[in-house]
Amino acid sequence: MTVEQEWTRPEGRALLVPGTIGPRRGVPVKIERPEYVDKDEAVSDSGPRVQTPEIIERVREASRIAALALQAAGEAAQPGVTTDRIDEIVHQVLIENGAYPSTLGYLGFEKSCCTSLNEIICHGIPDSTVMEAGDILNVDVTAFIHGVHGDCNATFAVGEIHPRAQDLITVAHETMMRGIKVAKPGREVNVIGRVIEKFVARHGYESVQDYTGHGVAEGFHNGLIIPHYDSAPMFDDVIEEGMTFTIEPMVTIGSQAWEQWDDGWTVVTKDRSFTAQFEHTMVINADGPELLTVV
Ligand code: MF3
Ligand code: CO
Ligand code: CO
Repeated sequence: MTVEQEWTRPEGRALLVPGTIGPRRGVPVKIERPEYVDKDEAVSDSGPRVQTPEIIERVREASRIAALALQAAGEAAQPGVTTDRIDEIVHQVLIENGAYPSTLGYLGFEKSCCTSLNEIICHGIPDSTVMEAGDILNVDVTAFIHGVHGDCNATFAVGEIHPRAQDLITVAHETMMRGIKVAKPGREVNVIGRVIEKFVARHGYESVQDYTGHGVAEGFHNGLIIPHYDSAPMFDDVIEEGMTFTIEPMVTIGSQAWEQWDDGWTVVTKDRSFTAQFEHTMVINADGPELLTVV
């Protein structure tokens, strides 16, 4: 193994610590809220797995708006910028387009997106943390409009990054695309997990098993689970035309073992190695998947 391959995080980059979380951002009253906002449970987190054409069109709109906000977040991911500023931008794009930020008030989450920097695998809370050149930032945006959600995320380079970090990002994106390609009607969802796990392993990385893709429409997470590893005999649901779901693999340079901060959300790699993720919402058509989280 070369030194390059052993690299898991930049020398000199301090381990992340929780920053200060700013006040909750307001949403104009005319924007429709999901039922779960500020409740202890999300009743809509279960429901039909196959969607009607009318619901699919709404998911298409929610997804497009989420993708727009994600794009704006990516452009703002620069050294010196706080993750809370990213949240502000995402929040603004969503409400400008008439959408509610699905994470805001979801089971106690208080921000309009997730910002997962460096060793954070997922569910990072936007705060006063200032990004530095060499960091990698995942932003996860979910939009709610006309009663449905669209969900996407991407990992961005902050300034110049280490070639190994760039490779991680490239592999994570390709991993998601490989998983998407095999999501055809009539196959079990685990086919997606199998392809993802194999592809990641081929690059010497690991695919995080404990966080999955999910059905998304009227429910933020509607009960359908999309594994990112070979989970057989678990998750033997058959992919059907009309399903709308996400594929969102998390890839680690080092071990996928994780722990959670005391905030109850932030999931970090136990070895503090860098990790990257990408996510799309798609609809399954007769001939295969169609990406919805596109601008
Ligand atoms: N958008 C995330 C996903 O891909 C879920 C975030 S839930 C939150 O499923 F509460 F952490 F925001
Ligand atoms: Co998701
Ligand atoms: Co998401």
